[in-house]
Amino acid sequence: MPLNIQKDFPILKRRVHGKRLVYLDNAATSQKPKIFLDALQKYYTTINANIHRGVHTLSEESTGAYEAVREKTAKFIGAQSAGEIVFTKNTTESINCVAVSWGKKNIKKGDEVIVSALEHHANLVPWQELCRETGAILKIIPLTEDFLLDIEGFQKLLNLNTKLVCVTGMSNVTGSIVPVKQITELSHAVGAKVLVDAAQSIAHSQTNVQNIGCDFLAFSSHKMLGPMGVGVLYIKESLIAEMSPYMYGGDMIETVEQYTSKYKTDYAKFEAGTQNVADVVAFGAALDYLKKIGMSAIEKHDRELLAYAKAKFSKFKQVKLFSPKNIKNCGPVLSFVVEGIHPHDIASVFDSQGVAIRAGFHCAEPLVRRLGVPSTARMSFYLYNTKADVDTAVKALQKTLKIFKIKN
Ligand code: ALA
Repeated sequence: MPLNIQKDFPILKRRVHGKRLVYLDNAATSQKPKIFLDALQKYYTTINANIHRGVHTLSEESTGAYEAVREKTAKFIGAQSAGEIVFTKNTTESINCVAVSWGKKNIKKGDEVIVSALEHHANLVPWQELCRETGAILKIIPLTEDFLLDIEGFQKLLNLNTKLVCVTGMSNVTGSIVPVKQITELSHAVGAKVLVDAAQSIAHSQTNVQNIGCDFLAFSSHKMLGPMGVGVLYIKESLIAEMSPYMYGGDMIETVEQYTSKYKTDYAKFEAGTQNVADVVAFGAALDYLKKIGMSAIEKHDRELLAYAKAKFSKFKQVKLFSPKNIKNCGPVLSFVVEGIHPHDIASVFDSQGVAIRAGFHCAEPLVRRLGVPSTARMSFYLYNTKADVDTAVKALQKTLKIFKIKN
């Protein structure tokens, strides 16, 4: 069922190289609805002021608007309270916060940290670094031939030395969906904590942290119709007290003496300095918009579009898709290569037809190498995409094959 919401996204009226813009790079960032753009402008034109600092009206209104979005975010992911939500600048910062504030205190030499072979660099490099600094051991969950996490392989890695398991909710390269609830249950059984990188999955299906049971969940607002520069870190309340701040300065303190200071003990200890208030406030409008459409309607729409694109693209025998067979295991991301054409050339021809796709290793170099290619072309869909968009991408592919004289 098409959602018929293109009119809500002003950028979709744009033309690129004289062609209608077909935006299929949603795994990199999403486009923004007018309701979000209006909220951003309204903030700066009516209540702009720094938060938590003034007793004047604007400051109080600004604080209220900012904290209301913390509440809204908590509800959106099913957290127990707003006190479990920390605003950061992106998923990467959220994950690094856990590595520094929780990891450095709790991970010791000989401990084991497990990540999966599907990870984006943001959920791999911080753990490589933590293990290097502490002498802990990094282990990698293998993949099945169908690009899914090998759960038996994971179980073989788990033991009483496992202290932390970090997995994506959905791969930004293959779209593979990870059974994060099952991973969490298995990890908790050996006493390990679990971090979910929800940067991709948060935008395409309903996320409920209490149902998953995870200890940390990280995501960015810009992949879910909100602004760049706002990340979210969910921390299970019982863990906040044992974590140290990772940045020090204004607003995260309780009292400051000349030589010593006391820090806030709740989520506020992680939000040092002036925050990205306007963008957080406008993010609230993006959350309202997603809620209005409904995450289950979005999931259904995205999956139908992916199925349509897979069916169309798999008809080309020179095209190789990197996507789990069962569409139920798949988010709306479709990576592919064409024998004899570099993915960057594919992306350039697509662009000449107004179709925006990404080419490269998608910040997931070990995964793409594991796929046996140096890079892929990648289409990724979202709620404003249509079957007509996929048809335009198919025509762009036909043009690419023609230019490079590849017979199908
Ligand atoms: N992680 C983003 C992507 O996959 C930037 O494109």
